[in-house]
Amino acid sequence: MSAKIIDGKAIAARIKENAAKDAAEVARAIGRKPCLAVVIVGEDPASRVYVNNKKKACEACGITSLEYALPEQTSQEELLALIDRLDRDDAVDGVLCQLPLPAHISEEKVIEAISPDKDVDGFHPVNVGKMVTGGEGFLPCTPAGLIEMLKYEGIETAGKRCVVIGRSNIVGKPAALLMLRENATVTVCHSRTNGLKEIVREADIVIAAVGRPKFVTADMLKPGAVVLDVGINRLPDRTLCGDVDFAAASETVSAITPVPGGVGPMTVAMLMKNTVEAARRRARASL
Ligand code: GUN
Repeated sequence: MSAKIIDGKAIAARIKENAAKDAAEVARAIGRKPCLAVVIVGEDPASRVYVNNKKKACEACGITSLEYALPEQTSQEELLALIDRLDRDDAVDGVLCQLPLPAHISEEKVIEAISPDKDVDGFHPVNVGKMVTGGEGFLPCTPAGLIEMLKYEGIETAGKRCVVIGRSNIVGKPAALLMLRENATVTVCHSRTNGLKEIVREADIVIAAVGRPKFVTADMLKPGAVVLDVGINRLPDRTLCGDVDFAAASETVSAITPVPGGVGPMTVAMLMKNTVEAARRRARASL
């Protein structure tokens, strides 16, 4: 059997088209484009690529992007002062600080310094709480992108067994919660899980977010399963590869996301959607 390759780039393009239409409508209502402020600290090459992609997407969607690139030695106080200034700026709708941050800065403090209504990353504890209880906050972009992909592909989630491999705050934990919201039966596995292979093999839907190249091998997958690969790993020969052994897995599963061109582009597309939504909600709140 040969799997359907889920084209994240194409799905992301559709989401960005819709975000652009909505951005134009919001702009007409508020007299300016929606605006996203992106803060990056230090020189991490992967973070630089992600931030550049976010800026490019803003441009394509009719969203103003402001970039604040701070040196590695920036103190926590300096960073918090900048975040606070952007948070109070009425012309800014969304604020995000690219992670990871240098070790001397508390990610938790930075995330909590952004108001929940400008937290387009969906990382603030208030938005995390709303995600858990089903309220209307902002959802984290990568996990929300996974759900969007499944919907777009018409893949049923209700009653299905979903195994999430990885338990990070950015992907694993929220992906599990969102799949639960979609009525899947969810198991979260991680580096300390006993009998990982047997558990993953039960899954109708596998979400791989471990950060280790080709960690999920074909023998771990149930034939016909759907595989969403969140990993972006660079191999010694500089090529990118996911957390799943794509070539072998695609011989046995029914659908799978490639790396690159799978989950990656969805993150930025969902960020555009959240930013336009932040502008819309703020405009409504100020009426
Ligand atoms: N680092 C890796 N993924 C993300 C993300 O979605 N948002 C931010 N701010 N940093 C990240």
